[in-house]
Amino acid sequence: MKIFADTADLAAIETLAEAGLIDGVTTNPSLIAQSGQSFLAVIAEIAVCVEGPVSAEVTGTEFDQMMREADVLRAIAPNICVKLPLTLAGLRACRRLSAEGCSTNVTLCFTANQALLAAKAGATFVSPFVGRLDDIGLVGCDLLHDIRQVYDNYPNLQTQILAASLRSANHVQMAALIGADAATMPPKVIEALAEHPLTRSGLEGFLRDWAATGQSILQ
Ligand code: G3P
Repeated sequence: MKIFADTADLAAIETLAEAGLIDGVTTNPSLIAQSGQSFLAVIAEIAVCVEGPVSAEVTGTEFDQMMREADVLRAIAPNICVKLPLTLAGLRACRRLSAEGCSTNVTLCFTANQALLAAKAGATFVSPFVGRLDDIGLVGCDLLHDIRQVYDNYPNLQTQILAASLRSANHVQMAALIGADAATMPPKVIEALAEHPLTRSGLEGFLRDWAATGQSILQ
């Protein structure tokens, strides 16, 4: 499963990319607003930092504006993936961009039917929002199961499932077990994937015993 960092925090992206932990980056207008930076400038910087896809979202709601914005975004770097909302206008723009060979990410997906339409529109990725379904009392990971099943039923559908709105290491593990193609998450969730209390306490024990020997590997 590919791991994407869901952030516009350049320093965090650089650290994760150096460690080889991420395969790409996703952003949305809220994350750009949080960063306090210029949208086009920060996307250009991120696109240099990682080789994989960098999702940059249009903000227009009508087809013509989406297409004009997409032209600006895709000119930034070859690894820009144009992110579009799962609306009829967004799907139409997705179809046009996909036909032109542009990578696309259809976002704000909450049902398997929506994911089916994204695939019909030729989306490179569809982003089901797991955490936001949990927020309203549903089981967000059920949506990943449903989309996986629909896509597997019809192998001509080539869209990759990009599990999004993941808030915990458990969400990520579920996404991987279900067979999501990719998962995007905040840097703190990526860091949490490495954590286990027995790893921490085991290391403390090893270091205590090592210190008692009085030895040093470095002479
Ligand atoms: O980037 C889209 C998605 O991952 C947002 O997550 O936590 O705001 O629901 P969240």
